[in-house]
Amino acid sequence: MHKDFLKLSDHTPETVRHLVNEAVKMKKKPDGKKPLAGKTIGLIFTKSSTRTRTAFEAGMYQLGGQVVNLRPDEIQLTRGETLHDTAKVMSRYLDGLVVRTFSQDDVEALAQYASIPVINALTDKYHPCQAIADYATLLGHKKTLKGLTMAYIGDGNNVAHSLIMGGAMLGVSVTVATPEDYRPAQDVWKTALAIAKKTGAKLTLTGKPAEAAKNADALYTDVWVSMGQEAETKKRRKDFAGYIIDGALLKKAAPGCIVMHCLPAHRGEEIAAGVIDGPQSVVFDQAEYKLHAQKAVLKLFVGDT
Ligand code: CP
Ligand code: NVA
Repeated sequence: MHKDFLKLSDHTPETVRHLVNEAVKMKKKPDGKKPLAGKTIGLIFTKSSTRTRTAFEAGMYQLGGQVVNLRPDEIQLTRGETLHDTAKVMSRYLDGLVVRTFSQDDVEALAQYASIPVINALTDKYHPCQAIADYATLLGHKKTLKGLTMAYIGDGNNVAHSLIMGGAMLGVSVTVATPEDYRPAQDVWKTALAIAKKTGAKLTLTGKPAEAAKNADALYTDVWVSMGQEAETKKRRKDFAGYIIDGALLKKAAPGCIVMHCLPAHRGEEIAAGVIDGPQSVVFDQAEYKLHAQKAVLKLFVGDT
């Protein structure tokens, strides 16, 4: 197994399925075991986080381990120390590094130089830890992933990339509705299509939210403006007009469709308040699954095998 968790496609569908199943199991019945006793991870977050950081921190404590918070403005990385030297030094103190930053290349470089596992807690390109929580939520609510269709409405961003890849690997069909200029990255789509061919997942791209929502078992969206894109806010609000999960769109989905959002959400932009706060929304369960999913990731990558 690849020592790091940087993107789903570095791993086998079996590993991804194991993480999802493990997260569901952990939510149902925490076993109280402390498999990470004596282990310490470092958290480097150069972007804001409410859920992922807390889930990793609380999760590590629950598994018996310790956390060191490495605030970017307090370590030498922001004063010009290289990723190479940082990774080498951290490998002498810690048992794992959880990193949230802008460039996927930076987490890949850290992982290359570190002898300890590096876990991607979100980059501009991927959010693999989120996808584990997302499919655990879907499995927890639907009891099986077989034959399900996930519809993603909005920006073809980091969250979308990992959701698409996760669907392809787990055999869940994913229909993506984005404006033309905001489609998922071509390399991600191509890799996902190749994987989907083997698992039987159907991946579809459309410009029409209504088309994607039709008969979907889950409707999923994310913010129109991701971290680091703040300067494009005005343009994005215009470009994404109509890409909202509202009551009318939800009516087109399958009966019992669940509504998902990785959070944070902007009510009235990508999702209507009545929907995110309505009976079909599972967004707070989904947030809870981040704790269980992140624990599953820690156990597999930081724990002794
Ligand atoms: N969904 C998610 O990653 O949330 P945070 O940005 O709060 O960690
Ligand atoms: N796409 C969002 C996800 C936040 C969890 C961002 O990158 O800001």
